[in-house]
Amino acid sequence: MRNLIQTADLTVGEIDEILKTAEDIIRQPGAYADRCRGMKLATLFFEPSTRTRLSFEAAMYELGGQVLGFSSATASSTVKGESVPDTIRVVSCYADIIAMRHPQAGAPMIALTKSLVPIINAGDGGHYHPTQTLTDLLTIHREKGRLDHLTVGFCGDLKYGRTVHSLLEALRRYEGNKFVLICPESLNLPAYVMEELEEHEYVCCSSLEEAMPMLDILYMTRVQKERFKSEADYDAVKDLYILDPDRMKLGKKDLCVLHPLPRVNEISVAVDDDPRACYFKQVENGKYVRMALILFLLARRRENDSRRFAKEDLIYHKVCTKSNCITSTTQEVQHIFKKVGKNRCRCIYCEAEQPLFEQ
Ligand code: NCD
Repeated sequence: MRNLIQTADLTVGEIDEILKTAEDIIRQPGAYADRCRGMKLATLFFEPSTRTRLSFEAAMYELGGQVLGFSSATASSTVKGESVPDTIRVVSCYADIIAMRHPQAGAPMIALTKSLVPIINAGDGGHYHPTQTLTDLLTIHREKGRLDHLTVGFCGDLKYGRTVHSLLEALRRYEGNKFVLICPESLNLPAYVMEELEEHEYVCCSSLEEAMPMLDILYMTRVQKERFKSEADYDAVKDLYILDPDRMKLGKKDLCVLHPLPRVNEISVAVDDDPRACYFKQVENGKYVRMALILFLLARRRENDSRRFAKEDLIYHKVCTKSNCITSTTQEVQHIFKKVGKNRCRCIYCEAEQPLFEQ
């Protein structure tokens, strides 16, 4: 069975195939209206969402299928103490495919070990959000006609912004893309994302004004308040980057401005009327690409999961102590680390690092 936990679960060829299907759905939606007749999608949202959940639900309805699920953990047996693996095992008896969002990193990875049906990660903590990436890629493709040889600026919260981690994981596999990382030092990319980038692929830049003229795509992000340890830490960085009409003047004529939304105040409303503002088009594309993804995964239910860890790289005697990791609240889960480099290892659920050998 195939699942989508992170963008790397898809080959570039498969990403292109999903985007192609989405574009075909846009051209002839009627041809897809019955493709999921008699099937059910479960949307299990342990963390708030507007666009992702509703676009998944709209997608399944437009394919002729039906939807069940919950939109907050408080409306599920989580409040009685049920674990994620148990909830998933149960729901997978009722649904043909599951889209889930959880505040802790690694929750969908645990889910797939218990599920009888495909799992789609609709956001796990500050970790990954691969279906937003498909949305972003479809938008870039429709606006620019290509996914390669682009200079893409990521601005704002690159540390906790899961949409950034997933989009980078995809765009770096297309030829000739360059990245400009626009953020304060404290909100830079986590090590597991940064290490994937080759030195020639990116530059860091603390000024949005300086970066603007270089960019083909500007990917703005919200500072992820809910992931900060204290209000003071959040206040220190929350208003550092604001895109307004004056800054837009510094951008190329064919710049494409994206934002996964919701925005707080990092893009002023006055930018919305600029034809280069594409974030509301992005919202619409999200539904089509999720339709294409549902079809893709349902068609591959009998294939083996593409996710593989080399057995010799796995370590079973270490314990992850991060509170943002699913292992911190799910007792029955075995802690597993994978070796990275000579003397480091990383939790396979949340990617927190530890030295391989204690000093
Ligand atoms: C994003 C998310 O949930 O990570 N929103 C979305 O899914 N469209 C971005 C955010 O919350 O800032």
